[in-house]
Amino acid sequence: SVLLSSPPPTAKDGSRFIDSNYLQKQSHVPANFKWPEEDAASAQEELNAPVVDLEGFFNGDVVATENAAKLIRSSCLRHGFFQVTNHRVDADLIQLAYDHVDDFFNLPIEEKIKVQRRPGSPYGYSGAHMDRFSSNLPWKETFSFAFQDGPEKTVADYFKFTISKDFEQTGLVYQKYSEAMHSLSLSIMELLAIGLGVDRMLYREFFEDAVSIMRTNLYPTCQEPNLSLGTGPHCDPNALTILHQDLVGGLDVFVDNKWHKVRPVLGALVINIGDVFAALSNGIYRSCLHRAAVNSHKERRSLVFFMCPRADKVVKPAEELVRKGEGGTRKFPDFTWSDLLEFTQNHYRVNETTLENFT
Ligand code: SIN
Ligand code: FE2
Repeated sequence: SVLLSSPPPTAKDGSRFIDSNYLQKQSHVPANFKWPEEDAASAQEELNAPVVDLEGFFNGDVVATENAAKLIRSSCLRHGFFQVTNHRVDADLIQLAYDHVDDFFNLPIEEKIKVQRRPGSPYGYSGAHMDRFSSNLPWKETFSFAFQDGPEKTVADYFKFTISKDFEQTGLVYQKYSEAMHSLSLSIMELLAIGLGVDRMLYREFFEDAVSIMRTNLYPTCQEPNLSLGTGPHCDPNALTILHQDLVGGLDVFVDNKWHKVRPVLGALVINIGDVFAALSNGIYRSCLHRAAVNSHKERRSLVFFMCPRADKVVKPAEELVRKGEGGTRKFPDFTWSDLLEFTQNHYRVNETTLENFT
């Protein structure tokens, strides 16, 4: 089609914008997309992380809730990764969200880069921007937008008014999907709280009116998958992440000094603890290194919701978690989400290799 045949535009300085359409046609990984072998070599083992059934929790079953909280606690003590089923996110909604991923990515690259992510912002389109000096570029395209808790329909409005009227339907789907993710995040926080032995509603106030980030990822096939990465090793800085990966697989987590695959489970959502929640738990729960590998046989898509606290709210753990902690000390200083975001964005600006990893 016309859409798929446009060559990557070249900027005045010789740099080029690269999208999946270009990447998937390469028989070798271009030098700028090569990663160090120790980062890119494929994982050999699988993570033995629990798949937690949330049915009992949602039905108000006290025993089932305790059991779910215990399972979640043990994986958060170890690495901060688990999967959930019976999460009450409609399977049709998830399918619809996938059906719409390519609406945006299929646009000609000239259109996509009109909404490209700017330094210092986590929102917008991000493909690879290749120049003479770039290295460790990600083998993917991403599109990120803001979801605000409350009556505002930020996602729907963004697609309809900023992208184009043709994207009205797409925007409505992602609005609904983000609302479902926000609501599930609050439920998961209750289970995290129960597991920590604090008031189960303790974390609500951090997320009221907060702005979170919704992202779609497209990882094209790669003929030399051990030389590159879709998403490089990183920890998520936000509070909690809900990831839906399709059945292709590619998410890896670093546990006990080794990369492990997180095998996709049909209908399940992957939850991982981010740095903000690690701080809220005074370091009791872990935020761990993860990445997305690529493969040579099938392109992969994922949908990611990054639950973020209110930008100005001071992130600090409950008193009882400080008393319980080793030596009764705070593991992290006070900070706000806006401090952290500014710090990570500044850090990424000086270190281009990690620019695309989280945000
Ligand atoms: C994934 O696509 O599986 C992971 C993406 C991420 O961690 O940002
Ligand atoms: Fe991540």
